[in-house]
Amino acid sequence: MCGIVGYIGTNDAKEILLQGLEKLEYRGYDSAGIAVLNDNGVTVFKEKGRIATLRENVNEDVEATIGIGHTRWATHGEPSKLNAHPHQDETERFTIVHNGVIENYEQLKKQYLQGVTLKSETDTEVIVQLITAFVNEGLNVEEAFRKTLSELHGSYAIALLDKEDSEVIFVAKNKSPLLVGLGKNFNVVASDAMAMLKVTDQFIELMDKEIVIVSKNAVELKNLDGENVERKPFTAEIDASDIEKGTYAHYMLKEIDEQPFVIRNIVQKYQDENHNIVLDNDIRQAMLNTDRVYIIACGTSYHAGLVGKQLIENLANIPVETHIASEFMYNMPLLSEKPLFIFISQSGETADSRGVLVNIKELGHKALTITNVPGSTLSREADYTLHTYAGPEIAVASTKAYTAQMAVLAILAGEAAKAKGIALDFDLIKELSIVANAMETLCDRKEELEQIAKDFLATTRNAFFIGRGIDFYVGLEGALKLKEISYIQAEGFAGGELKHGTIALIEKGTPVIALATQKHVNLSIRGNVKEVVARGANPCIISMDGLNDESDAFVVPAVHEILSPLVSVLPLQLISYYAALHRDCDVDKPRNLAKSVTVE
Ligand code: F6R
Repeated sequence: MCGIVGYIGTNDAKEILLQGLEKLEYRGYDSAGIAVLNDNGVTVFKEKGRIATLRENVNEDVEATIGIGHTRWATHGEPSKLNAHPHQDETERFTIVHNGVIENYEQLKKQYLQGVTLKSETDTEVIVQLITAFVNEGLNVEEAFRKTLSELHGSYAIALLDKEDSEVIFVAKNKSPLLVGLGKNFNVVASDAMAMLKVTDQFIELMDKEIVIVSKNAVELKNLDGENVERKPFTAEIDASDIEKGTYAHYMLKEIDEQPFVIRNIVQKYQDENHNIVLDNDIRQAMLNTDRVYIIACGTSYHAGLVGKQLIENLANIPVETHIASEFMYNMPLLSEKPLFIFISQSGETADSRGVLVNIKELGHKALTITNVPGSTLSREADYTLHTYAGPEIAVASTKAYTAQMAVLAILAGEAAKAKGIALDFDLIKELSIVANAMETLCDRKEELEQIAKDFLATTRNAFFIGRGIDFYVGLEGALKLKEISYIQAEGFAGGELKHGTIALIEKGTPVIALATQKHVNLSIRGNVKEVVARGANPCIISMDGLNDESDAFVVPAVHEILSPLVSVLPLQLISYYAALHRDCDVDKPRNLAKSVTVE
């Protein structure tokens, strides 16, 4: 949430910062700003809205080789030019960009900033005013920076400019992600390596409560006590072309189309040359030793976790509970004797999930993270990691990460079964390959799905998704996709549950999208469809080949029933995409959202 960048070197800082922010826009796009420093002092440009608006308003004539930038997802204070970063102190000596939430900012304001008039409503401005206050007390800038940080409760990734020193950018991190990128005669700062891939692939990762003093030719890492810290850089293994849209109109469509490749990639990465599954033995052992798995995740990843429960219970016979991270955090259930925690997170940075990880680690439990970003916080802090190999996911609405998560969960479940001596009655790898082929077929049927979107969702105010068993979980994901990008009020329901209240909302023409991919509930879900049709609903049945009826709106190719979510979700993703497109919504950057939710 929120993205920050910084540059110090010999080139035009403005352009590098703007390009970096464009790559970070998925983290928030309520407002954006940059600040550059030259002999005339600091110049701040900021605007409400997208980076494109900021770019239009940056004065090309201001030349500078040092600067910082920010793209915002509002937490404290509405999205506005005033609340946009960078922020400055009263004297305008210090300029700051910040990602995170300072929980005690009101208290700090009262304690240290009596008499200081704050210009914005943000917690960030308190940080920069505090630095000034401590400098005024006689501390040097680095000391004031460290003292300020030690007073902060909450999360932060910070970059700071000092008007009186154009040779350095001060940066710091706690809980919010931040990297320092290394170059020849320049160095950069970024929330995510993607932002700076154009200029470097060498990065140093910051740990919590560390600061870095970044100059053109050096980076000095320290802890909050001022002691030096040594850390080697790593090479970011992202191909710059992976983060481009290419010929696609939207990242979401590109990422939907990438799904067959992603599944094949997973199949390949998780096998050795003899076709044995490659999985850390400690993970196998952890699955063998546990008496109950607790899956923790948010949003789409939570929906993958619901399918994961089904996979692990059905294949490996291990009890599983799937929990929403933000609920688990404050309402922890009674745990079993030997719990194993599985965190599912595309970004690996989601604050709600991380909060649970910190808590359960304190209780001494083991954790496995399934993520698309192996170097991420959740990956580093868990005992084990499984990589989803989906490649960078840029569209705010998650698609390929979801199917990748389920594929990896299937492999994990299959290996846990093997470790327990349970023989699967099917070849999982072969079935995943069949899934990839089915996905490819579906990607070629976009026109049919576009028509369904037009027929059912062009003007509707609301829509329902129903299914039973594993189809119910896919329905939840279908509803989330539709509402987040098209703003249609959409809800997913267990087929049998609708009649216990929600059926009151069905009116003439209400679209009800029903999933029918499971043999044992095929008749009953069709019965539920009849119930809503009797009340005027407009039914759209998406079934699986072999279970289909001639009135079904769309039939997906047959795959193994337990893997059906990987295939049945694809038409739902595409229907949502076309519904949003035809309703003139911004598909890749839906309102109020950000991709990586790094605040609680
Ligand atoms: C929806 C979506 C979100 C994320 C959720 C968790 O399309 O992308 O619901 O799934 O914010 O994010 P990660 O997986 O990064 O922890």
